[in-house]
Amino acid sequence: MDVFVTRSLDEIRFWSRIMKEHSLFLRLGFRAEDTQLIEEAKRFQSIFEDIERRSYEFNIDADPYTIKVFNTEVQNAATNIWAFKRMVLGLILQCKLPGQTNFPLLVDHVSREANYFRNRLGELNAGMLEPLPDAIIDENVFFLKIMADHAQFIGHLLDPSERKLVEQARGFSDDFDKLVFQAVDLSYMRPQSQTVPLLSQFVDENRVSVQSLRDFKKTARDLIEECRIKSIIHPLLADHVFREAERFLYILDMFDKSLSGVKINKKEIVH
Ligand SMILES: [Fe+2]
Ligand SMILES: [Fe+2]
Repeated sequence: MDVFVTRSLDEIRFWSRIMKEHSLFLRLGFRAEDTQLIEEAKRFQSIFEDIERRSYEFNIDADPYTIKVFNTEVQNAATNIWAFKRMVLGLILQCKLPGQTNFPLLVDHVSREANYFRNRLGELNAGMLEPLPDAIIDENVFFLKIMADHAQFIGHLLDPSERKLVEQARGFSDDFDKLVFQAVDLSYMRPQSQTVPLLSQFVDENRVSVQSLRDFKKTARDLIEECRIKSIIHPLLADHVFREAERFLYILDMFDKSLSGVKINKKEIVH
């Protein structure tokens, strides 16, 4: 029961801050005349700010039923912001907002994160977490693509005159594109690919790349913060993508621990 409360609060604390920041980024990218979109983004910003604040008012002794109700409320908010992001993506792709400055891939990306958030809450409330071997593949497919996108965003939002850094970002982008394909391959090979040695190698290999991307993001964040490099990256966006890499590493660590735990009893993991 405690696990349900702890995991729910952990997801909500992390992702509600992320959703709040997405609303800010979207708002900053709209044109001055798009007052309705700006107002809508502001509304989501305060909705998720409020959710984030309330999530810290609960502790792990909270009544699971209360948390279940809270999860449902947050899930609805996540669904609404997801729909808003998809609507904005539609407008951009139909060239109805010429001159706005959010990349379509960024809008799609933040909608995928909203979708992930609402799915996590749905799973928690249904008490149906994926079996470990499926979770390992699905979380990696999701997060590797997220990391690949981040490398693209950084590369495209740095000033073109920052040639060395742009080159480095491109290197990460290529590296993560390959990792995404590897993860998709492993996914297609299910369930036969879900052996402990393969999954364990998969997690290890991904972790090495995520750690180095995380370090690159940290450096970029610090350089932006200190105004040492030229870019149009908002300092909060630099920190945001750094935190998402940290989140992925935390999940990879959990998988690693679970895999070393089940090594003793392989039957539990091999289909
Ligand atoms: Fe994000
Ligand atoms: Fe992201």
